Amino acid sequence: MIKAQRGTKDIFGEESYTWQWILNNAQNVFQNAGFQEIKTPIFEATELFARGVGDSTDIVNKEMYTFQVGGIEKNATSITLRPENTAGVVRAFIEHNIVRQSPPQKFWYFGPMFRYERPQAGRQRQFHQVGVEMFGIKEPSADAEVIMSAVEFLKSVGLDNLEVELNTLGCPKCKNDYRNSIKEILKPHLENLCDDCKMRYEKNPLRILDCKNEDCQKIFEIKEVKNVILNDYICDECKDHFDTLTKYLDDLGIKYQRNKLLVRGLDYYNRTVFEIKSSALGSQSAVCGGGRYDGLVEMLGGASTPAVGFAMGVERLFTLVEKQEAPKLDYFIVSTNTKEAIKLAQKLRQQNKKVEFDMQARKFAKQLEKASKIAKNAIILGEDEINQGFYSIKNLETGEQTKIEKFENLI
Ligand code: HAM
Repeated sequence: MIKAQRGTKDIFGEESYTWQWILNNAQNVFQNAGFQEIKTPIFEATELFARGVGDSTDIVNKEMYTFQVGGIEKNATSITLRPENTAGVVRAFIEHNIVRQSPPQKFWYFGPMFRYERPQAGRQRQFHQVGVEMFGIKEPSADAEVIMSAVEFLKSVGLDNLEVELNTLGCPKCKNDYRNSIKEILKPHLENLCDDCKMRYEKNPLRILDCKNEDCQKIFEIKEVKNVILNDYICDECKDHFDTLTKYLDDLGIKYQRNKLLVRGLDYYNRTVFEIKSSALGSQSAVCGGGRYDGLVEMLGGASTPAVGFAMGVERLFTLVEKQEAPKLDYFIVSTNTKEAIKLAQKLRQQNKKVEFDMQARKFAKQLEKASKIAKNAIILGEDEINQGFYSIKNLETGEQTKIEKFENLI
């Protein structure tokens, strides 16, 4: 038997209603806040992610689904299944010159992402993200708007007690000072860092702070190291930005925790970074991750444009939300006269009613048994009803049966 690939999953049956419900809520909340949907292709030039996400990240180094297309011809190109969607949305933003529209330009998206990770609970190779990206606003009100949208969406699916973790990485200048201090304080401990962190030390030292390896965690606990990690390196402007953001969040009643170890695993962030977590998810606890990326549009060849956004893992959300049941049909048509039943189903569906009928003209008792499981009402269409032109309706919750003379009364 051919099976689904490791780290991928079929979504069907009852689960699909919960998925639809999550997406309907996302569409409502994000569109009400002025985000327009954007759909970008699921594969892009490899270079977009190498440059956009960053070639020192785990995503680019270890986790991309990359392949050559066009054989060994001179013009063979390397493409990659998107591991995330920020780079693709930025590519579209630049390519369609969206910068010309007056800011803010606000987008939301939903779709599959691909990362070649070791599958475990909460970590798949094909997973789905719902997210937003907003361009054109450098003020902290944009960070607040984005975090508020994430929190309101989570509330709309019944999750109002998740932990928001917040940090600021500063601007390129203060980030650099911080990076140098971290390198200096970790230098004597380099030998004891895990192999991944030894590599990160040169390429992306801030990322070391995010390491969950026990040996690395022990080093972070050493007093002098901890002091440097917890010290505030951010410049006055970055501090103002962060303080204004936290005031907005306080006013909105959004609770957050400052986590100075939160650095995020993608290279494009500056200033605000945040994650929304649930302890119910175990080791892969982040439902949502995001932040500001003011340098990315320019880095990928566009005009300098501030930007901020987030993405949520829908599979992780799925494990947290209350499961939705399949909605019941308005009517199940119980009839052995398939010709009449199919016509009535068509007419009722044209009136936006949820209707099914029995395609095998089985015995009434069998049809009623099925109807009582999936419908609110049965329309009984026996020979009397057809010959005399009326409908018998059985309310499948109360068992009460009524006679309806006109089609209009069924709508
Ligand atoms: P990220 O933190 O890599 O950020 O992913 C965001 C969310 O996607 C995670 O918090 C998690 O819920 C989910 N996720 C990531 N990897 C997996 C996986 N292997 N299996 C299941 N779920 C997963 C980004 O992707 C950024 N593009 C977010 C962003 C948007 N920043 C600014 N704008």
